[in-house]
Amino acid sequence: MKLVSTVFKHFSKYMKMSEINQKFVLPQRYTGSEPSVWTEYIQLALDYKPLNLGQGFPDEFPPKYVTDTLVEVAKDRSDYTIHQYARGFGHPRLIKALAKLYSKLIGRQINERTEILVCIGGYEALFSAISGHTDVGDEVIVIEPYFDCYEPMIKYAGGIPRFIPLRPKEVSGRLLSSADWVLNKEELESLFNEKTKMIIVNSPNNPLGKVFSMEELTFIADLCKKWNVLCLSDEVYEWMVFKPHKHIRIATLPGMWERTITIGSGGKTFSVTGWKVGWVYCPENLMKNLHIVHQNSVYTGVTPVQVATAIAFEIEMERMESDDCYFVSLARELEAKRDYMVNFLVDIGMKPTIPDAGYFMLADWSALESKVDMNSENDKYNDFRFTKWMTKNVGLQGIPPSAFFSSPNKYLAEHCVRYCYMKKTETLKQAEDILKQWKATAK
Ligand SMILES: Cc1ncc(COP(=O)(O)O)c(C=O)c1O
Repeated sequence: MKLVSTVFKHFSKYMKMSEINQKFVLPQRYTGSEPSVWTEYIQLALDYKPLNLGQGFPDEFPPKYVTDTLVEVAKDRSDYTIHQYARGFGHPRLIKALAKLYSKLIGRQINERTEILVCIGGYEALFSAISGHTDVGDEVIVIEPYFDCYEPMIKYAGGIPRFIPLRPKEVSGRLLSSADWVLNKEELESLFNEKTKMIIVNSPNNPLGKVFSMEELTFIADLCKKWNVLCLSDEVYEWMVFKPHKHIRIATLPGMWERTITIGSGGKTFSVTGWKVGWVYCPENLMKNLHIVHQNSVYTGVTPVQVATAIAFEIEMERMESDDCYFVSLARELEAKRDYMVNFLVDIGMKPTIPDAGYFMLADWSALESKVDMNSENDKYNDFRFTKWMTKNVGLQGIPPSAFFSSPNKYLAEHCVRYCYMKKTETLKQAEDILKQWKATAK
């Protein structure tokens, strides 16, 4: 007791709570960040236990050979280095596999030592690229909808995001497809100026599933060359493209290798998002800046995960293009899941935008608004109200896609929800049942 009161006296004499709070406020460079939609919606899912079509990850096991590989690597007693720090810029076996794969895909020899960096997921790859190339006052063009971390990452580096939305075309008699969401060329052109350092292109796009066409990428590439601007190409969904669409790597366009930083993700590629292994490839002179950020923030990645990813790539490279290749079967399976979800969303009265790639689908729920108590939540944006009400009252969770737009453009998705269809058939069937049951009983 005596001890407690002594400590208390000491505490109150020297530190008032208000003084502590004042001193330890969030550093200015981080202020103004919106609270993350993920933090809020993951908690919502834990509290209400809905069927979760929110976050982007599969709800079934990855391919068996992929998980078996990690087990084999981890229990191999002949090589102790598997459990020790890996080479900081990427384990030799993984950079070798990545260099072999991407050299073929982009039609030029990539130097595994100087032109590849292995990161803690595509996320750290984005962070190293944005921080390593954005100076105070630099402008970075961001195409909306965008993966929501781009904006804070640019701001933390002192940069200024300049947004340009994809807008849906007017279509009649059919559903929108992700290809109907397009850029206004003059508007894009008007954003480029001497202060522009970088444009971020995410193709295939999260959350739309849009695969940028050759014409669209050429237009972007020409502006990059005209204004001497870098292209940060986030291609984490590169293998999930549905026929007849084709993923085009912007680094392969004439004059673009010199100014493109491309990002990939092992989590997305092998359906192991929890492995958090990603990478960057770009020319050595651009890579140097990323090295600085990477070596002074995370320094190195998880060794057994890198080795297992390398082996998985070695296996897939032996059977590229064949039906057994996971990159081929993954897209095929996802396409069937996409079609299934499109059909049941249409059946209950939503209007999905049909994605040409990726894990996600935007669906317009405005025709069902009268069945939702939109006043039960006090969020500013309608899609937040809709998705929260659905989570709590119907038991199905989606993500409010206005989170992927800047404030002036949130209206473009405020009447939509984002659902992830990278889920097992039973889960999709359950989602269908939940929605149909709701539709049948809702007043
Ligand atoms: C567009 C986009 N880029 C990057 C990432 C991050 O990838 P990783 O999970 O490998 O960190 C994601 C993850 O959802 C994403 O959707």
